[in-house]
Amino acid sequence: MSLIFRPLFEKQSSTYTYLLADSQSKEAIIIDAVSETKQRDIGLIEELGLNLKYIIETHVHADHITSSCPLKDKFNQAQIVIGEANSVVCADVLIKDGENLQFGEFTLTALSTPGHTNGCMSFVVGDKVFTGDALLIRSCGRCDFQGGSADKLFDSIQKIFTLPDETYVYPAHDYGGRTVSSIWEEKAFNEMIGGNVDKQEFVRRVDAMELSLPAKIHVAVPSNQVCGSRIVTSKS
Ligand SMILES: [Fe+2]
Repeated sequence: MSLIFRPLFEKQSSTYTYLLADSQSKEAIIIDAVSETKQRDIGLIEELGLNLKYIIETHVHADHITSSCPLKDKFNQAQIVIGEANSVVCADVLIKDGENLQFGEFTLTALSTPGHTNGCMSFVVGDKVFTGDALLIRSCGRCDFQGGSADKLFDSIQKIFTLPDETYVYPAHDYGGRTVSSIWEEKAFNEMIGGNVDKQEFVRRVDAMELSLPAKIHVAVPSNQVCGSRIVTSKS
């Protein structure tokens, strides 16, 4: 058996979508699919002859609208998966910390990693961890809305750092064109938490981020709470 692994990129929101599949059984999962690129993703799934089993969200995104529901409409055997702490009405699976999902011979393990939002999950598949917006390459997610907490994020990243050093880190975003990192690299060089920064200093750094709100937050969050099944046009 071998793993089909296709990182994909959506340039408006600098979001990575990850398609993974078992090359023999063709069972597939997709992580953090984006509305703008759903035709590309559907095309690739069909071209490779994959059987989409799970449509997975690392969290309720504030910066883009998910294509979970449109993908489920297209591949109606697929199940939408999100962490159990999220108030999302359309999910088929509210996954818990430590729970496994199978696709072919491969196993995805959920890790609860709150802090960027209260419902954030990371997902481990073999030597890869998909960290959403908890751990970014040389950075981390902001903690100033959706139940965010720098205190919790510190503990979550320490939990991610217990994975083997050689584990590849695939985040939900990168704004500088980087595509992959590793646990040892982020332990050493992450500008928010690398080099054994303590919790107090980490919280101070997160509090000092001073970021403006994502342009689409008032549309994206309510739409993503229904898995992108409707586009909310008024602020709510
Ligand atoms: Fe996010």
